[in-house]
Order: sequence, then C-alpha cells, then structure tokens
Amino acid sequence: MNPISTPGNIPSDLVADWQTLHRVFIRPEDEKSRQTLIKYMEQILFGLHEFLNSHVGVTEAIPLATLAKSYTDTTIRREPEKKLADVIKDIINEIAPRAVNVASPYFIGHMTSAIPFFMVHLKAITAALNQNLIKLETSKVLSVLEKQVLAKVHRMVYNREPAFYDTHVQNVDTCLGLFTNGGTTANITALWAARNRLCGPTNDFAGLAIEGLPRALEYLNCTGLAIMVSRRGHYSLGKAADLLGIGRKQLILVDTDVNNRIDMESLREEYDRLQQQNIRVLALVGIAGTTETGHIDPLEEMADFAAEVGCYFHVDAAWGGPTLFSDTHRHLLRGIERAVTIIDCHKQSEMMPMSAGMVFR
Ligand SMILES: Cc1ncc(COP(=O)(O)O)c(C=O)c1O
Repeated sequence: MNPISTPGNIPSDLVADWQTLHRVFIRPEDEKSRQTLIKYMEQILFGLHEFLNSHVGVTEAIPLATLAKSYTDTTIRREPEKKLADVIKDIINEIAPRAVNVASPYFIGHMTSAIPFFMVHLKAITAALNQNLIKLETSKVLSVLEKQVLAKVHRMVYNREPAFYDTHVQNVDTCLGLFTNGGTTANITALWAARNRLCGPTNDFAGLAIEGLPRALEYLNCTGLAIMVSRRGHYSLGKAADLLGIGRKQLILVDTDVNNRIDMESLREEYDRLQQQNIRVLALVGIAGTTETGHIDPLEEMADFAAEVGCYFHVDAAWGGPTLFSDTHRHLLRGIERAVTIIDCHKQSEMMPMSAGMVFR
C-alpha cells in the first residue's frame, strides 16, 4: 500500500500512512511513542479514578433528553475527526461525568457492584492478551484455566467427592459448567438444555434440536411445553420462553407468599391445571435472590416437587449465588445442589467487572 496523500481539509497529523499502521499493529513502540502512550494510560487509569473519587453520588445533573440531543449525528465520516489523545480527553470529560457512578455509596440495593480499583488495571491485561476462548488455538492455557475456575465454583455449589473433581477438572470430555456473557444468556442456556433433555433423541425420534418443535409435541403427545417460576422471576425467563419456541404465555408465573417466595400450594394448583390441558412442564425455576427483593425460594421443597413430577429443576442464582461463599449464610440456598444453576460474576461476586455469567449442572 502506498502512503496516503493528505486530502486538503484534514490536518496532516490525523492522516495515517502505511508506516504508522504497521508500527501501531506490529512493532513495539519507539521511545517517543511509548512516552505518549504512557501519558494516555495515566489519563485513563488515574484520570477516571480521580473522577470517580470526586463524583460520588448523583452524576452531572442533566436530563437524558437533553443529553440525547448531543448524540444525533448518524454519519460515519471518511475523514478522521480526532487524535487518540482527544478521544481519551473526551471520554474523561464528556462521557464519564454523564455515566452512572455504580461505585457510589449512595446506591442502595443496586446489583452492579463497586469493584476494587485494581480491576481496571487487570482488565487492561485482558485486553492486551485478547484471547478468544471459543477454541484452543486462540486461548491455550486460558481454556485450561477456565475449566479450573468452573470446577472450583462447581465444587462450592455441589460439593461432590474430591475424587470427582480430580477426574473431571481437566477432562476434555466433561463439561462441569459454562461461562456466558451474563445471567440472561445463562438462563437461556439452562432452559435450552432443559428443553432438549425433555425432547431428546430416542430410537424413533431424532430430538427437537433436529426435528423442530411441532414434531416434538407430536412425539410427546402433548399440546405445549411450559416453564414454571414465581411471579418474582426475572424477565430474562420470558426471553428464554420466546427464543426456545415455548411461548411467553407458557411461562407460568406462580403466586408468592408474603415473603415473595413461591407459594407451594399455588405451584401444585398451577401444575394440575397444566396437566388438565395436556401441557408438559419442561422446567421448574427456583429463584435464589429475586431481582427486586432478594428473597430466596424454598429450594429444597421445590427440588422435591420437581423430582415428584419428573421435571428439570433450575435455580436462577444470578444474584444470590455468591451467598455460598459465606459460612454464615450458605444454608439459605440449601437445595441448590439438586438443580442446574446459574450464577452471575458481576452481581454479588463483588470483585468482578461486567460481564460474565456461569451455568452449572
Ligand atoms: C435473578 C436474575 N436473573 C437473571 C438476571 C439477568 O442477568 P444479566 O443482567 O447479567 O443478563 C438478573 C439481572 O438482574 C437477575 O436479577
């Protein structure tokens, strides 16, 4: 590629030439560029930190509608508009003061927790390594590490024999759990597994994943599938019912008691009603930490009920799951070890920045 000539209206220092691109992507920085980069990094790592320290509480009081007026230009320009230094300055001066300071001590009951400041630096390492864990050739040791982390959290939830973990921690034929990009995709993944288990392959049916929902209903000789959860269920479960072809109408919201926990009598009544309509329940979902109130369903009773009627038991512990780290409070989640469960890293796990969820079985 030839060096690009500078079009008349663009400052020459904004125009990239081949040598510059080559240097940016391939070569280590020369001393002058290193110093510039260090200056930027200081701005990013400490400029933002200072901002966060001095802006606890409500961020800049400016209505959303007014803000929106500043961001209406939809053209993608052919010409560069700013230098990197100006982009960084704008983020610190224009964007950060108008974002929400989730680390503020004035936040009450907010799920996106404060993170230790060193996490900002650690996240920079993640960007520098830029590994893609979708396949070993772009991740290697990170994939091995991922299996170990999942096995550790699995052990916290299910507490199987040490020999079980010795066998499975790095077994390439075993999947103790998965990382997802959050609680929504973790719930969808868990219910996807539930659907495909109820409608799995047999001798004369290749399974719903291959044959589709109408054939699966025909094969199961039922008129529909349902997911049962209390009225406090998170709205990601509605998305799952929609995406999995079950239908939002078949996400059955069961009444709760005065403590926002699923009412077991209502659960039985709703289940009987579905039976009369010849609708199969593919999963019962317990909530370990409801989004709005933090209440925990009676997980042991629910596990008993799921076993009695023969359906998949899933616990949405996106928020409350890390309670298992507490020797004092882990008993509140008793019964979770009998479920497929999901836990978010960026909620009660405290140290974690956005965004990761986990699914375990
Ligand atoms: C109980 C529960 N489940 C699932 C989710 C969805 O998690 P995410 O926002 O990571 O997709 C939330 C989020 O608030 C939640 O509170």
